[in-house]
Amino acid sequence: MSKLWGGRFTKETNDLVEEFTASIQFDKAFAEEDIEGSLAHVTMLGECGVLSEEEVTQIQTGLITILNQIKNDTFAYSIADEDIHMNIERALIEEIGTVGGKLHTGRSRNDQIATDMHLYLDRKTKKFIEQIRLVQQAIVNQAEANVQTILPGYTHLQRAQPISFAHHIMAYFWMLERDKCRLQDSLKRISISPLGAGALAGTTFPIERTRTAEILGFMDVYPNSIDAVSDRDFILEFMSIASTIMMHVSRLSEELVLWGSEEFSFVELDDSFCTGSSIMPQKKNPDVPELLRAKTGRVNGNLIGLLTVLKGLPLAYNKDMQEDKEGMLDTVKTLDGTLQLLAPMIDTMVVNKEKMKHSVQTDYSNATDIADYLVNKGSSFRDAHEIIGKIVLYGLEHGLYLLDIDLETYKQFSGLFEKDIFEVLQPKAVMNARSSYGGTSEEQVKQQIEYGKTCLSS
Ligand code: ARG
Repeated sequence: MSKLWGGRFTKETNDLVEEFTASIQFDKAFAEEDIEGSLAHVTMLGECGVLSEEEVTQIQTGLITILNQIKNDTFAYSIADEDIHMNIERALIEEIGTVGGKLHTGRSRNDQIATDMHLYLDRKTKKFIEQIRLVQQAIVNQAEANVQTILPGYTHLQRAQPISFAHHIMAYFWMLERDKCRLQDSLKRISISPLGAGALAGTTFPIERTRTAEILGFMDVYPNSIDAVSDRDFILEFMSIASTIMMHVSRLSEELVLWGSEEFSFVELDDSFCTGSSIMPQKKNPDVPELLRAKTGRVNGNLIGLLTVLKGLPLAYNKDMQEDKEGMLDTVKTLDGTLQLLAPMIDTMVVNKEKMKHSVQTDYSNATDIADYLVNKGSSFRDAHEIIGKIVLYGLEHGLYLLDIDLETYKQFSGLFEKDIFEVLQPKAVMNARSSYGGTSEEQVKQQIEYGKTCLSS
């Protein structure tokens, strides 16, 4: 098949080269955006008098026919036509005749592909913002049901202080809130039109770039045609945000895996989100959070891959830039699948309140509160820390938790102890005593959830 650019060539392209250089295998993902960009382009060319009304109508009708074929999956893509742009242009010429060849007036595939990807990522980013909201809503649902559920809080994965389960999972709400804001902010840099930048230097035709930008719903146009066709920052930014989201999801997933183990038994994932073992009949494996944790790797890899492709590239377009697509598409697919699964998985997870409560009753995570108790009675924090360290050691040696040690013994460690120490040491009291702003007390957590809910609508 002769190439759309075949004029200066005397030989056919080598078959392997054809396959190797083509991008249609993956850039067909932008078929709809490509046609949308073309429709805007011809409309503008008509308005600017570059094409006649008749030509514009013919091209638009042809493009719509092709769009329908693409939507109905009846469009025949060909590797020989290299990429989505030339596949569509060839089909257009076949459909409406030589007038179809006028579509490419005043533009290049360089501004065309950049436009396609800007449009594509704009849509996906808006979709991801909505999906994150659904995950946040699932977190709020669990949080509202578990303000009073007490579990051990950890540092260094060692029992630290008792906290509210709602408080713990709301931490993920705020991570996702920042991710959502990052996505929202990135739209400013995605919603810029490169269309009309031409190959790199602009065009000799009297085009109106702001008009195509307006038709396509872009907020702005690139002021520099070279930058317009060379910029892939918007893709890097998206992939970097995606990596951060996946990192957050991965931390949550790790906790779900850990909490679902026999040893913790803090939560149980719904059967519909787990799988079994082919050999061990008793098993219920947390494959979903395990895979979410693992998929963070490919998303990170895609980011590093593109950073590496772009580094050192001279301006303006280079074929290297065709390598921006597969990683980005993989990240989009991975993030989409991840966010879709996350919301129902969190929603259906069963929280084992009794097991968590038992845990905080059988540890020393109320030790800080005895220290604070002595400080309130006039001791310095350092002295108190030393005394409580000795009390904990005494407890460990005698097989006693802090609530089991009697007042006489406490008094031997410090004359400041009185019987109210036993109220202070109750896990619930320990939790509710942390009532500073953003702390784990019931009242603070309730306020935090209310604040979080206001973010859901922004
Ligand atoms: N398939 C190409 C890409 O994805 C489109 C732009 C090609 N431009 C060119 N001059 N070869 O990068």
